[in-house]
Amino acid sequence: MKFFIDTASIQEIKKAASWGILDGVTTNPSLVAKEGRNFHEALKEICSVVAGPVSAEVVSTTTEEMVKEGRELSRIAKNIIVKIPCIAAGIPAIKMLSAEGIAINTTLIFSPNQALIAAKAGAAFVSPFVGRLDDISTEGMDLVRRIRTIFDNYDFPTQILAASIRNPVHVVEAAMAGADAATMPFAVIESLLKHPLTDAGLKKFLEDWQKLPQASRRG
Ligand code: E4P
Repeated sequence: MKFFIDTASIQEIKKAASWGILDGVTTNPSLVAKEGRNFHEALKEICSVVAGPVSAEVVSTTTEEMVKEGRELSRIAKNIIVKIPCIAAGIPAIKMLSAEGIAINTTLIFSPNQALIAAKAGAAFVSPFVGRLDDISTEGMDLVRRIRTIFDNYDFPTQILAASIRNPVHVVEAAMAGADAATMPFAVIESLLKHPLTDAGLKKFLEDWQKLPQASRRG
């Protein structure tokens, strides 16, 4: 499963990239606004740090404007993926931009039918929002499982990008459900390796090592 970071913070992106396991980045208007930077400049910098797909979202809501904005965003760098919301006006925009060779991530997916339509329109990725479904007392990960079945049934090449991932359990479940990628905040990526038994085990190993006479410690 590919690991994407869900942030527009260049510091967080650089840190996650330095671990060597980062496959891409997703941003959204809320994340970009949080950084208070020029949108296009921020994207240019992010794309210079990460070679994999970097999702940049349109803020228009008509087909014509989404197509125009999508083309502009795609010119920023060759690894830009244009993020389009799963609304009726977005579907022809997905179709047109995909036909031009611009990769699309369809965002704000909350039902299997939305994912099916986005895939039929040619989207490269669909982003089911797991955490936001959990927030309204539904089983968010079920959506990923159902989309997996549908895409496998019809051999859709569209990748499932599990989004709105809030904790390490979501990451395990997304991997078990067969998501192609999961996008997560920096804090979630950081928490994936943490285990108290690892820390306690390492502490004990190092203490025991100190008991070995100096002369016996190296070849
Ligand atoms: C995905 O592309 C979105 O940016 C993101 O995962 C939304 O997550 P949230 O529901 O925690 O805001």
